[in-house]
Amino acid sequence: MTPAHGFGRSPTVEEVAGWNIDVVPDGTGLPIGHGTAAEGATVFAARCAACHGAKGEGVPVSGRGAFPRLVGGIGTLVDDVPIKTVGSYWPYATGVFDYIRRAMPLTAPGSLTSNEAYSLTAFILARNGIISENAVMDEKSLPGVSMPNRNGFFRSAQSQSPARPRSDRN
Ligand code: HEC
Repeated sequence: MTPAHGFGRSPTVEEVAGWNIDVVPDGTGLPIGHGTAAEGATVFAARCAACHGAKGEGVPVSGRGAFPRLVGGIGTLVDDVPIKTVGSYWPYATGVFDYIRRAMPLTAPGSLTSNEAYSLTAFILARNGIISENAVMDEKSLPGVSMPNRNGFFRSAQSQSPARPRSDRN
């Protein structure tokens, strides 16, 4: 295909496939692979714990808040000080996989294999008590995991009304 603007080139099929890694809530887009919490624990200790804590409890960064806590806080969203974590807040387990594979570790996004991403997802879900320690996460089982805050998201009246001009938003 000739580039429309007379410069650059069209990406190859392989290049597009490399970027086209989105996973949607029902699991469409999940790659073939598998992992358990035990496998994830090893990878987490090596590649994640420095920022997220050995148990996913988060790490304070002086003067700048914290690297996020990933575990706990389930049931606190209605409290005065809600603790938002993957376990307490995120609605879909498939999104956890997608985020980890796409964005983490912070300093080397995209460097995890599919099996590592499945096992890290299993590790975080198991530490949150959402799946059992022995559960195998793969492209079939992950979409079936039910997250505690699955029904906590809803469309606000605002988001259902027609879009307003940007200057009108606050
Ligand atoms: C160098 C520090 C660092 C390392 C290493 C790191 N992370 Fe993170 N992680 C972050 C920061 C900072 C954020 C918040 C990013 C943002 O909000 O834009 C984050 C966000 C996350 C979140 C989303 C948390 C939420 O509730 O929004 C998950 C899940 C996560 N990381 C998992 C991992 C895993 C798994 C690894 C290991 C493969 C890892 N991270 C390695 C710094 C790190």
